[in-house]
Amino acid sequence: MYVSMKEMLLHAHRNHYAVMAINCVNMEQAKAIIQSAAEEHSAVIINISPRQMKAHGHGDILAPMIKNMAEKVNVPVAFNLDHGAAFEDITKAMEYGFSSVMIDSSSCEFEENVRRTQQVASLAHGMGLSCEAELGHVGMASQADNSKVDLYTNVEQAKEFVDRTGCDCLAVAIGTAHGSYPEGFIPKLDFERLKELNEKLDMPLVLHGGSGAGEENIKKAVACGINKINVCTDLMKYATKATAKALTENPKIDYMDLCIATQNAMKDFIKAYMRMIGSSGRYIFDKDNGPEFD
Ligand code: 13P
Repeated sequence: MYVSMKEMLLHAHRNHYAVMAINCVNMEQAKAIIQSAAEEHSAVIINISPRQMKAHGHGDILAPMIKNMAEKVNVPVAFNLDHGAAFEDITKAMEYGFSSVMIDSSSCEFEENVRRTQQVASLAHGMGLSCEAELGHVGMASQADNSKVDLYTNVEQAKEFVDRTGCDCLAVAIGTAHGSYPEGFIPKLDFERLKELNEKLDMPLVLHGGSGAGEENIKKAVACGINKINVCTDLMKYATKATAKALTENPKIDYMDLCIATQNAMKDFIKAYMRMIGSSGRYIFDKDNGPEFD
C-alpha cells in the first residue's frame, strides 16, 4: 500500500515502536526496502533528499516506481521528501507523487520556521500528504554538531511549534548528527529531554542521524518516544561493502548478479534493524477482514 506517513506513525506512537525511514537512490534500494517491509510485516518510509535527487535518484522517476512497488505489497509504504528546504523542491515532490514531505527550516529563526512549516503543512494536508518538520537543528557529525546543546530542541518552543503549524511529526535534536562520527565514537543522547518532549507533545517524534548512534541508544530512544528513525549512511556503507565483497569473491560476476547480491545484503541489514526498533510483525494482512495491525 502506498500511503502517507500519518497513520503509520500514529500507530507506532500509540504502540511504542519506531518505523525506519531509509534514504534510497535507485531501484535496488527501493526493492530491498519494500521487500524487507513485506517480509517483516512492517511499515516503512523511503526517503530522498533534494541533493540525492540532483546527484542520482531523480524524484520524477523514483516516485512512480516506488508507488508501483508499494501497491504490490500488503504493508504501508510512504515516500517522503527528506530535508525539503526550498519551496520549489517541496512543490516538485508533490507534483512527482511523493506521499509525504519534510519541510526543514530548522536553520531559520523560530517565527520563520513556524511560518514556512504552516504553509507547507496546510498545502500537504490539502493534497492528502503528511508533513514532517524540524525544530532545533540536527547538524553534521563531521562538525561535532551532536554535542552542541544550543542546537537541541527546546521543549516549550516545541509545544507552541506543533500547535501553530499542525505538522504530523517532528524531528527533534537530542544529540545525534548526520553522517559518520569519528571511528569508535558513540554519541551521548539527551534522553531526559526526549522524555519531556514525548510527554508534552504526545505525537510522533523523529530521530535524524540514526547511523552510528549505537544499538543501545536506538533502543532507548524508541522506549523514550521516537517513532521514526532516519538511516542513510549506515545502509550506504553496508551496500558498498557488500558490493566489494561480491566482486572480490567473483571478479567476473555478471553486473545483474552483482546488483542482486547488493540488494539481498541490504535486506539483511534492513530486516535486522526493523526487528531492533520493534516495527516487525505489526502489520498482518487478513484476506477476509482487510488490513489490520496487531
Ligand atoms: P544518517 O546518514 O546519519 O543515517 O542520517 C540520515 C538522516 O537523518 C536523513 O535525514
